[in-house]
Amino acid sequence: MQAVFYERPGGPEVLTVREVPDPEPGDGEVLVDVEAVGVNFRDVYEREGRPPYAAGPSAVIGVEGAGTVAGTGERVAWLDVRGSYAARVAAPRDKLVPVPDGVPLDVAAAAMLQGCTARYLVADSYPVAEGDWAVVHSAAGGVGLLLTQLVRDRGGHVLATTSTEEKAELARAAGADDVVVGYDGFAERVRELSGGEGAAVVYDGVGRTTFAAGLTALRPTGRMIVYGAASGQPEPLEVHSLATHGSLYVQRPTLATYTRTPEMLRERAGAVLDLVAAGRLDVRIGDHHPLAGARRAHEDLEGRRTTGKILLQPQAS
Ligand SMILES: NC(=O)c1ccc[n+]([C@@H]2O[C@H](COP(=O)([O-])OP(=O)(O)OC[C@H]3O[C@@H](n4cnc5c(N)ncnc54)[C@H](OP(=O)(O)O)[C@@H]3O)[C@@H](O)[C@H]2O)c1
Repeated sequence: MQAVFYERPGGPEVLTVREVPDPEPGDGEVLVDVEAVGVNFRDVYEREGRPPYAAGPSAVIGVEGAGTVAGTGERVAWLDVRGSYAARVAAPRDKLVPVPDGVPLDVAAAAMLQGCTARYLVADSYPVAEGDWAVVHSAAGGVGLLLTQLVRDRGGHVLATTSTEEKAELARAAGADDVVVGYDGFAERVRELSGGEGAAVVYDGVGRTTFAAGLTALRPTGRMIVYGAASGQPEPLEVHSLATHGSLYVQRPTLATYTRTPEMLRERAGAVLDLVAAGRLDVRIGDHHPLAGARRAHEDLEGRRTTGKILLQPQAS
């Protein structure tokens, strides 16, 4: 089978496709024929060799996908199985979730990691209430488009940010009430829109370039949820500044916490896939490539040229 390896930590150029024997399932594992692989920012960190993402030299990269269990044909999806950029994976049974009828496997692969992230952000990190204003940064991205829809689904309002007008159009189509193109002035804009009060929550996957302004966008006791750092890590925070800004809360969450048991994974992923099946969550697949296109997919993701989800399709290789 084909699989995508990184021979050493580095840029997209270290990704290579090789022909290798099928993986051997161990205890509690099954062999899965992979239909679609999700490309995620964490794969960039894995490729760069950053702990805890890196798996060591000569590893097959990636963690997300959907496919069919060899022998039984069961349709399954996953978000935490190492070695997912491959035509077949040996997957622990308790990391697989069933895909409902009516949800195509590529859509399921696209919904898993970013959908479960969007879901815990709106339900757990800050439970969005009717009428709340939320700032959603990079709203045309994989997490951003899903998050915008889920905030609206709970009756909240969204001020989105994007880098281009084309991306802003996608954020509006996902339900954003307003969009700031270029990130400048989003704090002032959400204050205006909320009648002077400020946002109940800022969902920030961008980090370095947006974090400080985000603190000034929040209402008293508002929540800054820094779930990613696409532009780099924010400057260290002076904790006492949270008092000055109005007794704020800051969280740096990670999906692993919210899917740490098989039950939590199944509950969360099941809820996301059910929303997709019911037509209440639209999953945008921005682009797909064969496995040999992994390098290009990483270049595009890091170069801000993607919208929605990027998939690899091993069967197209
Ligand atoms: N904590 C968690 O549980 C969790 C789970 C999943 C993902 N994440 C994180 O969430 C973030 C978004 O992930 P995603 O997969 O949905 O990616 P994405 O949003 O589809 O892509 C990243 C977007 O970030 C924006 N961006 C702003 N400044 C950037 C810069 N300097 N370089 C590159 N991009 C920049 C770009 O949108 P514009 O062009 O519109 O600015 C870009 O398209 C990532 O940081 C990821 O690590 C965290």
